[in-house]
Amino acid sequence: MCGIVGAVAQRDVAEILLEGLRRLEYRGYDSAGLAVIQGKTLARIRRVGKVKNLTDAINENPVIGGTGIAHTRWATHGEPSERNAHPHLSNENIAVVHNGIIENYKELKNELSKEGYAFTSETDTEVLTHLIHKLQNETKDLLSAVQKATKIVTGAYGTAVIDSNNSDQMIVARSGSPLVIGLGIGEHFVASDQLALLPVTSRFIYLEEGDVARLTRKTVEIFDKNGQPVDRKINLVDAKSDSADKGEYRHYMMKEIFEQPTCVRQTLEGRINTQGVESGIFGNGFEAITGQIKHVTIVACGTSYHAGMVAKYWFEQYAGVSCSVEIASEFRYRKFYVHEGSLFVSISQSGETADTLAALRLAKEQGYLSSLTICNVMGSSLVRESDFNFMTRAGTEIGVASTKAFTTQLVSLLLLVLTLGRHKGLTSDHEKEMVAALMQLPGKIEQALMANDVIETLAEEFADKNHALFLGRGDQYPIAMEGALKLKEISYIHAEAYAAGELKHGPIALIDADMPVIVVAPNNELLEKLHSNVEEVRARGSILYVFADKAAKFESDDTQKVVDVVATEAITAPIVYTVPLQLLSYHVAVIKGTDVDQPRNLAKSVTVE
Ligand code: F6R
Repeated sequence: MCGIVGAVAQRDVAEILLEGLRRLEYRGYDSAGLAVIQGKTLARIRRVGKVKNLTDAINENPVIGGTGIAHTRWATHGEPSERNAHPHLSNENIAVVHNGIIENYKELKNELSKEGYAFTSETDTEVLTHLIHKLQNETKDLLSAVQKATKIVTGAYGTAVIDSNNSDQMIVARSGSPLVIGLGIGEHFVASDQLALLPVTSRFIYLEEGDVARLTRKTVEIFDKNGQPVDRKINLVDAKSDSADKGEYRHYMMKEIFEQPTCVRQTLEGRINTQGVESGIFGNGFEAITGQIKHVTIVACGTSYHAGMVAKYWFEQYAGVSCSVEIASEFRYRKFYVHEGSLFVSISQSGETADTLAALRLAKEQGYLSSLTICNVMGSSLVRESDFNFMTRAGTEIGVASTKAFTTQLVSLLLLVLTLGRHKGLTSDHEKEMVAALMQLPGKIEQALMANDVIETLAEEFADKNHALFLGRGDQYPIAMEGALKLKEISYIHAEAYAAGELKHGPIALIDADMPVIVVAPNNELLEKLHSNVEEVRARGSILYVFADKAAKFESDDTQKVVDVVATEAITAPIVYTVPLQLLSYHVAVIKGTDVDQPRNLAKSVTVE
């Protein structure tokens, strides 16, 4: 949520900063801005809308200088406008970019106003900027000023600060919002996501909570939350694994949908063999506690929450372990009961979702047996703060609507189900059957992707609709929910999902010819029940779109369109059936002409509450 890039270098950095912003644009895209120390003054340019608008402005008025900061914004305080865009300035010499939220900004604004500071924006960031300016006047040192400011402000944030009176210096601080330092030769960088800096370096330091750092061209000094100098590990990142390139595809989302067979293969690699799940894949010491696990509590948001909902069916059916699943923003603010022997599992693509992170921190104080995160970003906060982690290996997901992260989360959860199941009576034959299904999964997804053209044609029938209903039963109910979320997010069509058996308890009143109903209908033990539910809908005049394999015996006619989905094992069916629903949302959005990769009002990484 919001993206930060900064550089201290000898060469001109405007293009490096702009490229970094382009790579971070998926995190927020309401407005963008940049400030570079040009001679002894700050050159600042800000524009509403995409980074492209900022790039055009800079092409018209180039900025020259080796030290600069830049930002792409997802508005929290104040509408998306040029005056609210970052960087913010104080006294024309201090420039600040900031991610996250300063919670006590109103009190601070009142105090600073009384001291004569004038505010030109509605943002909390401008408050931080003036505060740093004031503290620098007192301490005569930018590092000390930022360190003091971090003790005064409350909330979760990451920030980068420059002062035009000292062009060879940038101060950065992390408290709750990720920041990574990129190490160059005779130049150093900072960003909220390493992806922004891959064109300039592959050596990174992930700042820890409370760290403040001073970067110059030649040095990096890091101080912990107590102000003590610390060494942090340097991590080497393979730039090839983090492609920010759309390749032959028109949108990242489509590229990421089609990457799923590869991503699933990567997630499984070295983790299963023909007999079952490899031991030790959840980290040293995990198997020592599996015998004690009596309950699994899953906490996540959005699409990741849907992965958790599918896993609940799996844990209880295959592993014989009770499981509860909860939205992180609810979990963190209620009194909850901790079952004896409970494993706390967080699921997150980004590893930085504020609510999920807060839930983990809370859980760690509440007597859970242990914590495990299933995550796609190495070095992220959830990974660092959980006792155990399991990486989904989907590669960087840039499309804001999550696709490959979701299917690899499901694969990872299945591996966890099998690992726990072993201790609860899952037979070795059953485990063998399940890993055989997992081995076939990439091929099944490839076959599911072959329906792309059919689904593209079908999508035309949705483009003029205002509402849609998704139905599923059992472990396909969360898949219906995920299908509805995807359609809402990128096509802006209002969509809801129901467990098909629940329809007659109210929502069936909505059914008429203008309400398309999408049904996920694999051939499983609930099929007969689902057939009855479908007939109830048909009898009320709706047009049905049924995703089913041939054995499920649905036939296309005037009121029912059937899309063939490859026959698949029950255990992997939720993963396979996700794919056609992703394709449907994608094509509806393309036909409607929405911004598929960066839908309105959304951001990829939700680092504020
Ligand atoms: C939807 C989507 C979001 C995220 C949610 C949690 O397509 O991507 O619903 O799933 O914001 O994000 P993570 O998984 O990063 O914790």
